[in-house]
Amino acid sequence: MYGTEAPMISLYMLIFLLLQLSFRMPLVISYNPVDKLAVSCGYSGNANQRGRNWVGDIDSKLFSTIEPQNVQPSIIKALTTPPSVDVVPYDSARIFRSQFTYSFPLKSGGPKFLRLHFYPTTYDNFEIYNSLFSVTADNFTLLKDFNASLWLRDGEDTVSKEYLINVEAGQRLNLTFVPSTKQHQDAYAFINGIEVVSMPPFLYYSDPNSTDQSDNGIHLVGYAYSSPYQLELSRALETLYRVNVGGRPIPPEQDTGMFRNWESDDDRYLVTHRPRSQSAGFGLHVNLKNNTIPDYTAPEELYLTSRSYGMNATENYNVTWLFDVDSKFTYMVRLHFCEFEPEVQNLGDRIFQIFIAETMAEDKADVIEWSTGNLIPVHRDYAVFMSDQRENSNKVTLSIKLQRLPIQRAKTNYYNVILNGVEIFKISDESQNLAGSNPDPMPPQPKPFYQSSNKSSKKTIIVAFLTVVVSSLLLASVIGLILFRRKRSSSCRKGSTKKEGASSSLPSHLCRYFTIAEIRAATNNFDDVFIVGVGGFGNVYKGYIDDGATPVAIKRLKPGSQQGINEFLNEIDMLSQLRHLHLVSLIGYCNDGVEMILVYDFMQRGTLREYLYGSDNNPLPWKQRLEILLGAARGLHYLHAGAKHNIIHRDVKSTNILLDEKWVAKVSDFGLSKVGPTGMSTTHVSTFVKGSLGYLDPEYYKRQRLTLKSDVYSFGVVLLEVLCARPPLIRNVDKHKASLVDWVRKLNDQGKLDQTVDIFLKGSITPECLKWYGQLAMSCLHDDGNQRPSMNDVVGALEFAMQLAEGDKDKSFGGAQDKEKGEESPLIPQFTSDEGSDVLFTSDESGTKDSRVTTISGSSEERAMISGLVFSEIGDPRAR
Ligand SMILES: *[C@@H]1O[C@H](CO)[C@@H](O)[C@H](O)[C@H]1NC(C)=O
Ligand SMILES: *[C@@H]1O[C@H](CO)[C@@H](O)[C@H](O)[C@H]1NC(C)=O
Ligand SMILES: *[C@@H]1O[C@H](CO)[C@@H](O)[C@H](O)[C@H]1NC(C)=O
Ligand SMILES: *[C@@H]1O[C@H](CO)[C@@H](O)[C@H](O)[C@H]1NC(C)=O
Ligand SMILES: *[C@@H]1O[C@H](CO)[C@@H](O)[C@H](O)[C@H]1NC(C)=O
Ligand SMILES: *[C@@H]1O[C@H](CO)[C@@H](O)[C@H](O)[C@H]1NC(C)=O
Ligand SMILES: *[C@@H]1O[C@H](CO)[C@@H](O)[C@H](O)[C@H]1NC(C)=O
Repeated sequence: MYGTEAPMISLYMLIFLLLQLSFRMPLVISYNPVDKLAVSCGYSGNANQRGRNWVGDIDSKLFSTIEPQNVQPSIIKALTTPPSVDVVPYDSARIFRSQFTYSFPLKSGGPKFLRLHFYPTTYDNFEIYNSLFSVTADNFTLLKDFNASLWLRDGEDTVSKEYLINVEAGQRLNLTFVPSTKQHQDAYAFINGIEVVSMPPFLYYSDPNSTDQSDNGIHLVGYAYSSPYQLELSRALETLYRVNVGGRPIPPEQDTGMFRNWESDDDRYLVTHRPRSQSAGFGLHVNLKNNTIPDYTAPEELYLTSRSYGMNATENYNVTWLFDVDSKFTYMVRLHFCEFEPEVQNLGDRIFQIFIAETMAEDKADVIEWSTGNLIPVHRDYAVFMSDQRENSNKVTLSIKLQRLPIQRAKTNYYNVILNGVEIFKISDESQNLAGSNPDPMPPQPKPFYQSSNKSSKKTIIVAFLTVVVSSLLLASVIGLILFRRKRSSSCRKGSTKKEGASSSLPSHLCRYFTIAEIRAATNNFDDVFIVGVGGFGNVYKGYIDDGATPVAIKRLKPGSQQGINEFLNEIDMLSQLRHLHLVSLIGYCNDGVEMILVYDFMQRGTLREYLYGSDNNPLPWKQRLEILLGAARGLHYLHAGAKHNIIHRDVKSTNILLDEKWVAKVSDFGLSKVGPTGMSTTHVSTFVKGSLGYLDPEYYKRQRLTLKSDVYSFGVVLLEVLCARPPLIRNVDKHKASLVDWVRKLNDQGKLDQTVDIFLKGSITPECLKWYGQLAMSCLHDDGNQRPSMNDVVGALEFAMQLAEGDKDKSFGGAQDKEKGEESPLIPQFTSDEGSDVLFTSDESGTKDSRVTTISGSSEERAMISGLVFSEIGDPRAR
């Protein structure tokens, strides 16, 4: 197996076996709602979407509809082209030109989730810009003169609204749509989907009978000594934000049973400092036995990820999340906490401060005090009234800030902060209203621009206009790109596990997307113990995904510059389209902040080099070596000619040829050379050159051009490595032995190739096979790239070598078998015909003729110079 790494692996296996059963959180549906109606509007019959049954609203027996007589009836519309989002419930709609009521009978009394789903698009002759309407539920105004298009958020095509409304037992829930014909003559209303789902009575509302007057109520922010705010059932709420801090989005079907949707806080809400996202270690579970909260409060996963600034921060900071809300409403803010870091066990371990809407909400927040212990989840609720921060402004910003405890304030063992989740609800006002104004027709802007625009001048209007134009163009092109990409079939081995429409612009539909939390869980937070390789682009970890079922190699690229991210995504786009038996498969990727991570199939037996030298693995027999080389050659040939692109690997070497448990060779690291060095950091250069110097095509730095034949040269070096079982370059040895290529070439010219052969192979290679193999290697190493064979030729020559190895030279030579792109001849002419003519180069001890020898064995300055040349070459995109 891994030779020296074996003890490490077995230790890992032990830990893994111990934790395997409890490794991933199973989906716990801890609440089963009595009412769970999902209605697909403008649809007849039943439809299944992500395991949920949606009933059509046409002729359904489950509820009734009320249309006033003698007015224009509602219209059913099905989209003729598939929506860019989930088909159910978005491919059909009901359109109202006058008042229309859905009346839902309910099985139980109590608070309900009421969810409205809109897909603002043009439905035949109903142009979306004419839709304008109000919605009421019982006596509450939910939406007023609602223009759904204005509520679309960046990169999303649908608008969903969630309300909480109490319905007395035996009462119906009446949901009424009214087109705003007074405001707009052609106004119409529309709806695609409606959900009515029960919830536990006191999940969010206050229990009036509660005897617990201590700390568990809703704290009025800014009124430290006031009694708790009572959230009464007579209020309706609108859910504005529900966020899994530091973790992935949690889709409705993975909620605790109420189909709530949890977003990720990335980018959208977290504005300063971008603290680390943390996740609990392998196999940890929250402790619900202490009854701090009921098990259905939030998915367990929410409590096992968090953001934390780092233990013992010395600078002052405010980790800040910003949420846009309507002014002149009271909001309930629920903060979820769970201390899972092993350091934080006792009272006073981590004390910090919480500000909500710039007002101190907690001056000594100690999660352990609230929860009574590590891994015990807890939440704290706050009520805050948002006045208008600026004159005549309907939209204001509700901030949540976590500040390190000021030194003089109190004693804490760790100057750090933590937050696991946030929910924000708008509370209906005295006139039973929840509706705010439509957002301005301007996409959300970076905050600085926002702040400078409190006095509206002509200039800002122009800027705003330009911004709208530019952003709409950008948005249009992004949407176009997304639509275009959706059409292409996903070629990644595993399907996307990410929800469509989730908050990410990354190409998750091309390839599986992993959250940083999943990657951290798979590698125990990048524990060094799991490192199986260190490459020029960063470390490679072994990890397990899919509940520990699948071993993977996780390549974590060293954080580079911002511009590296586009390269990275392009690379994934390309790599995910390459599938070949002899290429290592890309399973997925993760991109979170500065993290750029690729996830590959794990190769059990490691690299080819580990079976040649430098390890105590048993040497491989000759035939097996040929088989491995043949596989690798086929993989490279696919890269060169088989795929749509002509991809130059750029870094062919014995450590980039990996072996699976059946000894099948897989080429790895292809395409990535483009990603790594864009950061232009010196570490990339030196590591890259150090790892690959002995393999470099001399034309590479002479003509500064990289071609497919550069890979052939490098493969030639690998052929010699396999034959001779030694590295391409050895320092501090006899000068004419330092370079593998020159050493073998010289002896081959003298007819003494057999003196270079690996001592373990002595006598096991037939002379014909050795001769043929030597010719193949030398032709690959030809100084003139045009004279080298193509990879297709190499495949053919290796197949023939296999036959010669069996001493079966009568078999006719067949040529390459996988000629996807059919290159002409299996062998280049001079290779088959004239034995000597391809070896043009003769070693010259003086070194004057051979720039390669002098530079490689030359001074470190000279080597640095080559590195510079090589590096500028790599920086050049896709040189052919
Ligand atoms: C709704 O908003 C869109 C986008 O700004 C606008 O084009 C449309 O005219 C608006 N519709 C109405 C009825 O105001
Ligand atoms: C809902 O509408 C029905 C029929 O108009 C009416 O009888 C019922 O009182 C309404 N319920 C509520 C809570 O308004
Ligand atoms: C709605 O308002 C009407 C009149 O204002 C009142 O009679 C009725 O009880 C209210 N219904 C609810 C559910 O509050
Ligand atoms: C509160 O207690 C009273 C009297 O015990 C009971 O009638 C009422 O139903 C309780 N309310 C709730 C919301 O449980
Ligand atoms: C943090 O500070 C405490 C007290 O100064 C110290 O005991 C602890 O080792 C520090 N931890 C880290 C991770 O630096
Ligand atoms: C954090 O924000 C609060 C509220 O705005 C403010 O009082 C405090 O000074 C800020 N702290 C830092 C370090 O910026
Ligand atoms: C549960 O609570 C009890 C008392 O409230 C406490 O003694 C115990 O340590 C708690 N359990 C855990 C695991 O913290």
